[in-house]
Amino acid sequence: MEEEDKGLFLIFCQISFMSHNTSTPQALSNWKLFLEILGKQVSIRNSLFWLFPLLFVYVALVVSEPYFYKLFVDNLQVSIGKPELFAQTSSLFMQISIVWVLLVLLSIGTFTLYDFSIQMLMHGDWKKFALTTSKKIMQLPMDYHISTNLGERQKIYDRGIDAIWNTGYEMYLNILPQIFIFTSLLIFGFYINPLMMLISLSVMPIGIIISMTVGKKVHILQKAANDLWDKVFGRFGDGLTNISITKLYAREECEAKIIETVIDNAGNKQFHIRKIWSFLNAGGKILEFMGKMGVTITGVFFILHGKMTLGDLFFFVALAGRIYAPLQTLEYSYRNIIRHLADFAKVRIILNMENEPNNGTKILTKLQNSLSYNHLSFSYPSNDREILKDISFAIKKGQKVAFVGHTGSGKTTLTQLLTRFYEPSSGSIEIDGTDIRDFTLESYRTKLAAVFQDTTLFNDTIRHNLEYVRDNVTFEQIKKACQQANILEFIEGLEKGFDTEVGERGLKLSGGEKQRIAIARAIIADPEILILDEATSALDAKTEAMIQDAFNNLMEGRTSIIIAHRLSTIRHADCIFLFEKGELIAFGSHNELYISSSVYKEMVDYQKNGFVDEGVLDTIAAE
Ligand SMILES: Nc1ncnc2c1ncn2[C@@H]1O[C@H](COP(=O)(O)OP(=O)(O)OP(=O)(O)O)[C@@H](O)[C@H]1O
Ligand SMILES: [Mg+2]
Repeated sequence: MEEEDKGLFLIFCQISFMSHNTSTPQALSNWKLFLEILGKQVSIRNSLFWLFPLLFVYVALVVSEPYFYKLFVDNLQVSIGKPELFAQTSSLFMQISIVWVLLVLLSIGTFTLYDFSIQMLMHGDWKKFALTTSKKIMQLPMDYHISTNLGERQKIYDRGIDAIWNTGYEMYLNILPQIFIFTSLLIFGFYINPLMMLISLSVMPIGIIISMTVGKKVHILQKAANDLWDKVFGRFGDGLTNISITKLYAREECEAKIIETVIDNAGNKQFHIRKIWSFLNAGGKILEFMGKMGVTITGVFFILHGKMTLGDLFFFVALAGRIYAPLQTLEYSYRNIIRHLADFAKVRIILNMENEPNNGTKILTKLQNSLSYNHLSFSYPSNDREILKDISFAIKKGQKVAFVGHTGSGKTTLTQLLTRFYEPSSGSIEIDGTDIRDFTLESYRTKLAAVFQDTTLFNDTIRHNLEYVRDNVTFEQIKKACQQANILEFIEGLEKGFDTEVGERGLKLSGGEKQRIAIARAIIADPEILILDEATSALDAKTEAMIQDAFNNLMEGRTSIIIAHRLSTIRHADCIFLFEKGELIAFGSHNELYISSSVYKEMVDYQKNGFVDEGVLDTIAAE
């Protein structure tokens, strides 16, 4: 995607960039984006008072260089055919050469110092922006995370933060120095010979017209290409997330074909843009040549008529070369900035998104009496379908309750509302009479722990995964929790023990091992309210029995919600809430429900000692 070729006359694209900006809302927003990025380079802005003098010294040194050609040639011309002047001219040339070398060395030194200072300051601003952006992404609502593609999200983040660095780089290390150089050369050239200077610049209007027309089209095409590139990365990221499915069904070729299609779409668009750049580069080179030819021919004419020295001609040829060089750099920077602005625009959308709601100011210290759902109804943001309908019930402090119901009845959704991953569409959840939204998220969430249906672990060591949930947790506490979760023996039996890496999402561990680590993690978190969503589903009967004991200890004094399909595990719950299609249809103890609810009785009868009765399977098959 990088455009490496440099052309001359696309420099004028920047002029078209400016003119778009004053004529269309789209371009105006480009300017705003550009200024917004510059606004984030706080450290550089604060240091401009000493950076600019450094830059001016550098520019003065660079601009003075063509003058040395004039000095050399004019003095040479005077001494040609005059051997008596040879010694004097040689000494003069030696002096000029020494001054020239010193000036070049000084200009290199000055620019290196300027470059180093800019990069150092920019690093600080970039780091700040990267941290703000990553923090912002983590603060976005859960719905954003599950609705967007991971690969695409990573690419937006990656390119967005790089846009801050790259735009700063282009602005302070290319554009500003080159604009100063260009302007100084103009002034210097007009001072020496205005007519020659005008001839050097005579081809510029043609370049401006071409670039204003083509630059606008390229800009639109590049934005479309960027969107297609995002799709490539999104698709590739999705493919990698589901790599086990791809391998399992031997769909590597099929996946490659899908990726080939998206790459082709993006690549073709990019190639089209490259072709336009190439034609414009060629046009630019022709115009550059015409400019230089004009200078040379006019210069020869003036010399022949005694209106200019040979040194002046050398000076202008050198000057013309230097005038075109900044133009080339500016054109290249312009192209890059256009791309970075599109990248920044995408990350900016994320930065302007609403955080997950966190307007509460109260601090939750303890659950004193009860937790209650009050006339709660809920639809997921992406869907109008009502998932939970007017749910009301209360759980007393220290109670161990269970949510049961057929698959899709809304049990997990109820806990997602309790964790504040989502907010109710209407109604509320209250703790001791206070709406949970009135508590600060941090104080609230640190009183909760959950083991979800699809336990995942960080791609790190077992130790990291365990100590992650609490500050200053001791190794003794970790070991104790592992013992309670019946996983200590397994961990200590591993070659690297607690320092074993668990792989991507914990995939190097078995489902049961992963789940017991998640249980130990919940024990370490030491919560007031515990949510166990199918928490024992991946354990064998023996482990389950042992863990049930540990859970009983852990749940002692804590308010616990258990969701289980295997009803044997919740038989002794203080209260069982039965849900059907998003409604609470019955509640009570196991015995009460078995008598009062035909739905519950049917569910229990389907299972015998925690296993699905084979007779039932036959019945289902017959249906
Ligand atoms: N993020 C989401 N966006 C839209 N709909 C969703 C989302 N998550 C779940 N649903 C829908 O909400 C309904 C309830 O889902 P939920 O996960 O709460 O069911 P459940 O009772 O936990 O089921 P199971 O016993 O299978 O785990 C389902 O119909 C599901 O398709
Ligand atoms: Mg569920």
